[in-house]
Amino acid sequence: MNVLITGGAGFIGCHVVRLFVEKYPEYRIFNLDKLTYSGNLENVKDLEDSPNYTFIKGDISDLEFVREIFEKHKFDKVIHLAAESHVDRSISDPLIFVKTNVMGTATLLQVAKESWKGNYENKLFYHVSTDEVYGSLELGGDFFYETTPYDPRSPYSASKASSDHMVRAWGHTYKMPIILSNCSNNYGANQFPEKLIPLFINNIVNGKSLPVYGEGINVRDWLWVEDHARAIDVIFHNGKHYETYNIGGHNEWKNIDLIKVLCKLVDAKIGNEPGTSEKLITFVKDRAGHDLRYAIDASKLENELGWTPSLQFEEGLSKTIDWYLENKEWLDSVTSGAYLDYYTKQYESSES
Ligand code: NAD
Ligand code: TYD
Repeated sequence: MNVLITGGAGFIGCHVVRLFVEKYPEYRIFNLDKLTYSGNLENVKDLEDSPNYTFIKGDISDLEFVREIFEKHKFDKVIHLAAESHVDRSISDPLIFVKTNVMGTATLLQVAKESWKGNYENKLFYHVSTDEVYGSLELGGDFFYETTPYDPRSPYSASKASSDHMVRAWGHTYKMPIILSNCSNNYGANQFPEKLIPLFINNIVNGKSLPVYGEGINVRDWLWVEDHARAIDVIFHNGKHYETYNIGGHNEWKNIDLIKVLCKLVDAKIGNEPGTSEKLITFVKDRAGHDLRYAIDASKLENELGWTPSLQFEEGLSKTIDWYLENKEWLDSVTSGAYLDYYTKQYESSES
């Protein structure tokens, strides 16, 4: 079986690619990634020599290119993760989110449909999405269920909601086998340090201020990235076609409480006096349209497919901090001036 995984040089994708390459030597795994600012081949360097692994550099929204690789490699199944993924960037630069997340997803769907020519035996398009499509919850209130109506409120979540609708439309109209999953906030190794947890670990280590948006009362539901990858494995193999599965670890944290735990753990690990890093906390202007609370009900996945998260949060956070402390070179390389030049060029080329 030839499996195309998109976005496999990014944060979650690299863990999914590694799990599939190592666990399924009988599959041929193709990792398609444009290597934007958040894609990094260092994330999958250990897989380079694996006989069942191939990296392909390219853009999912480039129709001719996507046609060429489907023609050449005859993919049977797709696990689609490639996306623009950061809410703050979607606020300042929304159009690339529409191009990649909406047009890119529609392009992959259309080419998969053309390539499979109506013969869908052993074919699957699995779309990896986010809980942010459901909108925002009240503090202490209900959860997001698979049946919760969509109410995306940022350009990022609107682009992901749109991509989810595209996937369902191709499933419904052309009877193409599809599955979707919507996951809560991930944390772990290899996450680009613009997202809360790696940004704050990096800032603590460098004695820089910790910019808490608003009053820090927003709630996120955190899941260890390797547990997300395990869930994708279970859903890919045992999920029912045309179904959606929510993924989450019942692990809600108010931002400010999480940040204080992070400060305490990093201080202990790097030999700071207790309380040192909390002094770096700085309350800054709130994010525009900041969603108040996300919380996932994952009981469908737990009850129907038997998945549960493997790690408690403090253990996962501790492992995550250790990874960033042990991989300072990785962190320095993605936060260096060289990276910023690269980032600027990426945006120039994607706008032209
Ligand atoms: P990421 O930004 O770390 O990685 C995205 C990857 O996609 C990068 O390697 C990038 O180079 C690649 N990419 C971007 N545009 C591309 C294009 N046009 N063509 C080909 N490749 C392209 O993001 P992530 O956090 O790993 O998220 C992966 C997926 O999971 C996304 O679809 C995201 O919406 C979803 N998701 C993320 C979270 C989270 O907490 N990070 C939670 C739920 C769902
Ligand atoms: P983030 O990691 O960007 O994920 P998302 O917005 O997709 O949930 O942010 C997590 C939470 O942390 C969110 O409520 C915004 C907040 N936040 C800050 O307070 N300061 C920061 O510098 C960042 C990046 C996020």
